[in-house]
Amino acid sequence: MSSAEKLLWTNKYKPKSFDEIIGNKEAISQFRSWIEEFFNGTAKYKAALLWGPPGVGKTLTVEVASIVYKAELVQMNASDNRSYGDIERIAMAASKHFGFGSSRKIILVDEIDGILTSEDRGGLSALIKLIEVSKFPVVFTANDPWDPQFRQLRDMCLMIQFYGVRSTSIVGFLEKICRAEGISYDKEALKFIADRSEGDVRSAINDLQTCVAGKKTLKLDDVKWLGYRDRVTPAFDVLRGIFSSISCNAARRYTITSDLSYDELLQWLNENIPIQYGNVYELIDAYNALSKADVYLGRIKRSQDWSLLSYAMDLMTAGVSMAKREKYKFVKYSFPERIRLLQKSMSVREVMNEIALLIAKNCHVSSRTALSEYLPILKVIFTHNVNMAAGIASWLGFDDRMIDFLTNNPSISEEIKRLMKR
Ligand SMILES: Nc1ncnc2c1ncn2[C@@H]1O[C@H](COP(=O)(O)OP(=O)(O)OP(=O)(O)O)[C@@H](O)[C@H]1O
Ligand SMILES: [Mg+2]
Repeated sequence: MSSAEKLLWTNKYKPKSFDEIIGNKEAISQFRSWIEEFFNGTAKYKAALLWGPPGVGKTLTVEVASIVYKAELVQMNASDNRSYGDIERIAMAASKHFGFGSSRKIILVDEIDGILTSEDRGGLSALIKLIEVSKFPVVFTANDPWDPQFRQLRDMCLMIQFYGVRSTSIVGFLEKICRAEGISYDKEALKFIADRSEGDVRSAINDLQTCVAGKKTLKLDDVKWLGYRDRVTPAFDVLRGIFSSISCNAARRYTITSDLSYDELLQWLNENIPIQYGNVYELIDAYNALSKADVYLGRIKRSQDWSLLSYAMDLMTAGVSMAKREKYKFVKYSFPERIRLLQKSMSVREVMNEIALLIAKNCHVSSRTALSEYLPILKVIFTHNVNMAAGIASWLGFDDRMIDFLTNNPSISEEIKRLMKR
């Protein structure tokens, strides 16, 4: 593992034994029995298909098996190498011959769902052939193997289902990392990260590393912004992917799996290029590529000639990635200011409108009057007289967000909420 790869906590703290893997005990024990039977020559199936949601330990289980059973791991990713030729060249060749060093091998073809999107229809039949000819256990992984085209393959495999990992287990794992890194943490913060990860251990570890970013403490406030997670995490992953890729093709791929729009991607890159790139030539090249992309995007908007989009995307992904002169460093990315402002003002406007509606209903005025005449007075009351504020808030039925908005001060808000409970 290169020193850059070690910087990622998902690599640094990657389990090396089955006991260290959290969750999915049933799946792991099924897998272990099968592979032991295979090496004893008693297995019913020649292949296994580990399937389930992302980041829960499918690939990891096979990696650990290769350590524990002292087998050489021959690994290929079906999304990268999708044609019959690729599979024959890498996996099938390895599956026929005993290696020099260890006499055991495990053939892992990762992410086979990707094979169906290939134009080369030979990929799938190559996988079936691989099972037939292999002298070694063949393992596939997939998020969703239920496409009818996989039917024959599924029938040839022992199907092992993986599930999302429980939040409490993830918290425990994150605690271990914090202790190893000498970080003092609020348990609430770890719980927040774990809950938001929805059982995805990889994304929880990545979020932890992003939120800690070089500090030695982690508080709830440091992780609260993950509330934007549904948009933010994919964006962070895309950035990390683009900046760390060492080939144009790899860099390009990261946008395909994300739901960022090209406009958003431009904002994210614009904000984060100076954070990622320290070398002045890297900066020049990256901004050069980005500005050209911007020109294309402008032209597309004016002319509606969408065929130009691929040029803009190439410049933003491959162009920005290839500006790299030095090794990829793990840095904390920042949320584009423009998008943040937009979201903030949007939610502020929403809260104001909701307050205005409640006033209008109870005071029999229009919501416009409520906004222009009542709201400013309420703000003064809420910051200067907590008792009166609590009375008004109960009467009008304000929720926490509304109180927070009117006081704009967490400790006053807390006091008002406490008074309301009395
Ligand atoms: N159950 C787990 N216990 C401990 N660490 C885990 C676990 N699952 C994932 N990780 C961490 O996340 C990384 C990625 O996990 P892995 O590659 O196994 O995910 P996956 O299930 O194969 O996901 P995908 O479907 O995206 O390929 C691992 O290298 C490890 O660091
Ligand atoms: Mg995997």
